[in-house]
Amino acid sequence: MFSLIELIDINKQYRRSDKSYFHALSGINLKIEKGEIFGVIGRSGAGKSTLLRSVNLLERPSSGTVIVGDNNLMLLKEKELQDRRKQIGMIFQHFNLLSTATVRDNIAFPLKISKKSSNEIAVRVDELLELVGLTNHQHQYPRQLSGGQKQRVGIARALANEPDVLLCDEATSALDPETTDSILTLLRDINRKMGITILLITHEMDVIRAVCDRVAVMDHGQIVESGTVLDIFLNPTNKVTKQFVSEVFDTLGEETFGARQTQGKIVRIAFRGEQTYEPILYEAVRGTDATFAILQGTVSKMKDTPYGQLVVELRGSNADVSRIIAELGQRGLGVSEL
Ligand SMILES: Nc1ncnc2c1ncn2[C@@H]1O[C@H](COP(=O)(O)OP(=O)(O)OP(=O)(O)O)[C@@H](O)[C@H]1O
Ligand SMILES: [Mg+2]
Repeated sequence: MFSLIELIDINKQYRRSDKSYFHALSGINLKIEKGEIFGVIGRSGAGKSTLLRSVNLLERPSSGTVIVGDNNLMLLKEKELQDRRKQIGMIFQHFNLLSTATVRDNIAFPLKISKKSSNEIAVRVDELLELVGLTNHQHQYPRQLSGGQKQRVGIARALANEPDVLLCDEATSALDPETTDSILTLLRDINRKMGITILLITHEMDVIRAVCDRVAVMDHGQIVESGTVLDIFLNPTNKVTKQFVSEVFDTLGEETFGARQTQGKIVRIAFRGEQTYEPILYEAVRGTDATFAILQGTVSKMKDTPYGQLVVELRGSNADVSRIIAELGQRGLGVSEL
């Protein structure tokens, strides 16, 4: 895969008033592939905004390399950097709209800066209004809009210059859950239809689950864990990640089955994708003398990928049980003994 954004050994220190240094980012390495939606999650103060703002050098790292497309942004001259930034859209938690300009003029603003003709601007703004569903509100002012509508203006404005990257800093944190869903759906559509790569930061695991392909977890200026959203949800290893995951997601098998008198071995089995719907467990047990009892189970979806988790007790000889576990592993299921 072609990576569109690459952060290499990024460090950022802020100088405090007492002249000591605060390390907001330490040794960040991250590759974001073209066309994906990549999420960064972390608690307040973890360094998420600093990381996001490093990508377009709104915040210049103290050291490291920032590659976007073919450019190492750290080496660009100010004018070249300004030009490249036009292809990197950004949206914010509090929308950052011009309060004295209408919806239409807010969206037209970056096009004017880019010195497009008024004809081009009119055509492009009409397209963008249509895209975000605000054609009927184009002559209103930001104060006359709901939060969700304001963020739609923010998105349209960010897309005006046809960026290849969209950076989202807590874009839904000021919105209620329903409006959050509608904005996330819009971001997914934009990603899918226009192929725009999206990097979003959030402190909500539900946002990650709804739209992201991959996720990195930040703590104290470092990335402590990263992977596909499915891997992170089904097998979190870092303590911070586990906390985030447990807020929104039942990891089956967390309760102790050990207290029960068991006859066999208790395992947690994680299915993903199409295998979720296949009779793999039945097939693995068939042909042995073992049986199984289901203790817990769930089947759901993450973004578009179905997944399932089962906690089962495998009852049989050690040899049969080992054979079943090996067979499940060979067929690509995640098996962990509890
Ligand atoms: N300009 C600055 N000068 C000094 N310290 C800063 C500056 N900007 C950020 N920091 C510090 O860097 C750390 C990371 O800040 P950052 O805004 O990246 O966190 P965040 O993860 O986005 O948090 P939140 O979820 O609250 O937005 C914080 O401790 C913050 O106080
Ligand atoms: Mg922030």
